[in-house]
Amino acid sequence: MSTVREIFETMEYGPAPEAPDLALGWLKEHQNRFHPFIGGRFKDASNAQTFASINPRNGKPIATVTQCGQAEVDAAVAAAAAAFPQWSALSGHIRARYLYAIARQIQKHSRLFAVLETLDNGKPIRESRDIDIPLVVRHFYHHAGWAQLLADEFPGYEPIGVCGQIIPWNFPLLMLAWKIAPALAAGNTVVLKPAEFTSLTALLFAEVLQQIHLPAGVVNIITGDGSTGELLVKHAEIQKLAFTGSTEVGRIIREATAGTGKKLSLELGGKSAFIVFDDADLDSVVEGVVDAIWFNQGQVCCAGSRLLVQEGVAQRLEQKLRVRMESLRVGDPLDKAIDIGAIVAPIQLQRIEKLVEQGKAEGATCWQPSWAVPQEGYFYPPTLFTNVEPAWQIAQVEIFGPVLVSMTFRTPSEAIELANNTVYGLAASIWTENVNLALDVAPKLKAGVVWVNSTNVFDAASGFGGYRESGFGREGGKEGMYEYLVPSWEGHVNAGLSDDAKPENADRAVRRVELIPGPSADPGVDSSGTGIDRSPKLYIGGKQVRPDSGYSFAIKDGSGNYCGEVGLGNRKDIRNAVEAANKAASWSRATAHLRAQILYYLAENLATRADEFANRLAVSPGHSREQAEREVTKSIERLFYYAAWADKYDGQVHPVPFRNITLAMPEPWGTLGIVCPAESPLLSFISLVAPAFALGNRLVVVPSWRYPLVITDFYQVLDTSDVPGGVINLVTGDPNELGRVLAQHDDVAALWCVGAKALSEDIERDSSGNLKSTWVNFGKTRDWFDDRQAQGREYLRRASQIKNIWVPYGE
Ligand code: NAI
Repeated sequence: MSTVREIFETMEYGPAPEAPDLALGWLKEHQNRFHPFIGGRFKDASNAQTFASINPRNGKPIATVTQCGQAEVDAAVAAAAAAFPQWSALSGHIRARYLYAIARQIQKHSRLFAVLETLDNGKPIRESRDIDIPLVVRHFYHHAGWAQLLADEFPGYEPIGVCGQIIPWNFPLLMLAWKIAPALAAGNTVVLKPAEFTSLTALLFAEVLQQIHLPAGVVNIITGDGSTGELLVKHAEIQKLAFTGSTEVGRIIREATAGTGKKLSLELGGKSAFIVFDDADLDSVVEGVVDAIWFNQGQVCCAGSRLLVQEGVAQRLEQKLRVRMESLRVGDPLDKAIDIGAIVAPIQLQRIEKLVEQGKAEGATCWQPSWAVPQEGYFYPPTLFTNVEPAWQIAQVEIFGPVLVSMTFRTPSEAIELANNTVYGLAASIWTENVNLALDVAPKLKAGVVWVNSTNVFDAASGFGGYRESGFGREGGKEGMYEYLVPSWEGHVNAGLSDDAKPENADRAVRRVELIPGPSADPGVDSSGTGIDRSPKLYIGGKQVRPDSGYSFAIKDGSGNYCGEVGLGNRKDIRNAVEAANKAASWSRATAHLRAQILYYLAENLATRADEFANRLAVSPGHSREQAEREVTKSIERLFYYAAWADKYDGQVHPVPFRNITLAMPEPWGTLGIVCPAESPLLSFISLVAPAFALGNRLVVVPSWRYPLVITDFYQVLDTSDVPGGVINLVTGDPNELGRVLAQHDDVAALWCVGAKALSEDIERDSSGNLKSTWVNFGKTRDWFDDRQAQGREYLRRASQIKNIWVPYGE
């Protein structure tokens, strides 16, 4: 007779299928044919093309969906535009009630939503039922709260208008919630396009909107593939685009929207590190890995797909992992007892297969469990690669499948280096019993989310989004709300064109730089008669350096007379400046107190020389002596303002519903480029440089082209104020040229530009290489003396990105 132990060990799971009847019934009710949801109703698009939605479990079609074209996209955008004035004018409380009603209604129909999601996407019902749908509900509840609190918590901000939202197939309804909930809470209206593989829960969601009587046009759902997405991206009446998907398409969207004034947020791919130190609890680590890379078949943008293990425990962990992988169950997603469901579509399956073959060809060791996956449908087994070199394709490319690559490290600094050895920066997790080590490593990782002893945990109260080529912008938390709001001053207060963009200056803005070979023969430059070239140079790495070109350019005073020259910087100078800024990386770790002290010191030294600066400004174009004095005084005040902020712009602890401290920490971008406008040369410079400096960025700045002499005088103030070399680098020259070089530079993490309209477009387009975050003015002018426009939290917010660090507590 068998012992209890033997029975227990040989016991197999029986099937525990979830009944699909409810969802199949819903599909049947619609004759399995779906139309786009426009202006509050499903718009018959019988003449439009269609495509099939497939159940990845068996490859069979379950529905026919409309491929929306120009007519549907136009109608949806028009409906959203028509709904905007009323929706945005509603009180926050009324909008909160709608969002609350949506949450309640989804909760009531959660089983239908979960089963439909699993049928359409192939994800295990356990996940759609216990993770996706509850998170969706939580998201709407949470954002009902933001709608209610909007006026209190976001004074001076307003909704943007019509938002185009494009989402992927890996978390269809959850991505919809991440996009729609904050957009509506902020008072915007929406046109959303689900991914072509998974349109169905978005259409069921549209029915929920009808049930709660959401005003027509506030949310519109258009179905279709990438070509429909493209139409939405290019639509002139879309004011904001939010995209989640591949980095490749993110880049296309960045380029397509350049210069249009559309606000953009991108949540793109990842190759997230899962770092295991040798003191970690390896059994917990094994379960962590299961959640990191086999959750949702590994089709997760923040999947922990790179396992980095401290050498001493690597073999033991890999052995434990193989044992665990052998016991994972791949199969019918509707079976509650399976761990891994189906891959969404054949094209994704082929992509995984191809990348795995590539990994084998590169020389890595591939291990898969002994059992086979079902033949019918699109399944792929959990896969582990060992003996992987960090530079190999499988260690660098997002596989988006259940494939883990394992590498080893010796020291914490090696772990950090390996973890950051990727173009992405979405997430990371750290496993150690040593909290000091975890909290030392977390800020050093270039990732928007860091989980300590946990992985793939999400909540509406915590922002999610990436660093580097994983995109920019956050979804969730207070930080996520800003993606759907715009400071009132930026939207409306001053819609005039900046000096550079005015027709009379347009020519100058493009070809304004008069090249004068240097050293100049003009006696005005060398008033000492010593024959020494005295035209100011560039300021790079804390030193004055000659421009690479050897040229300088002439500066004119207010009467149009020659009053001096400055160095003409070029591409090479910008490169040198970026290199100097990168070398000054320790500045980003300096204490906030020190940053404040240096800003006070700058203010003090500027005040000491206030007369001299006022004299300099008084002869510049458009300045009377009185205006010059005002500008110097205001510049000193602004330095004080950001000195005050430096140690007060703190983060938050998000109240997530877990036993977890979730720290939202503003971090500097790293190297930030700034292109200053022509006008108010000293004040605009200080207004842009001081907040970026206060938060720990290293700067490469192109000062006013019209009157840079006041900034070249400022070199001495920098020298005498303890600004470390390389933290502020100044390259005088043509902003149209130098701005573009900064935009194209992969080591520049973010770029601000206030200048001509055409330059905004160039900068946004050129920034698509490393997908740097940009803040441009589209040619609109700003009054640098007006505190509402020229200083404040918006500047500090733009000078930083939020990292959320999740630290669990309790035994
Ligand atoms: P994708 O980026 O092509 O699709 C995402 C969404 O963008 C879909 O709604 C699609 O219809 C739309 N789209 C495609 N081309 C567009 C265009 N030119 N303009 C506007 N919208 C467009 O991703 P795809 O092809 O489904 O998957 C390819 C790879 O992308 C995956 O293997 C994975 O590596 C990555 N990916 C990353 C996701 C993430 O969450 N970060 C989600 C989905 C895919």
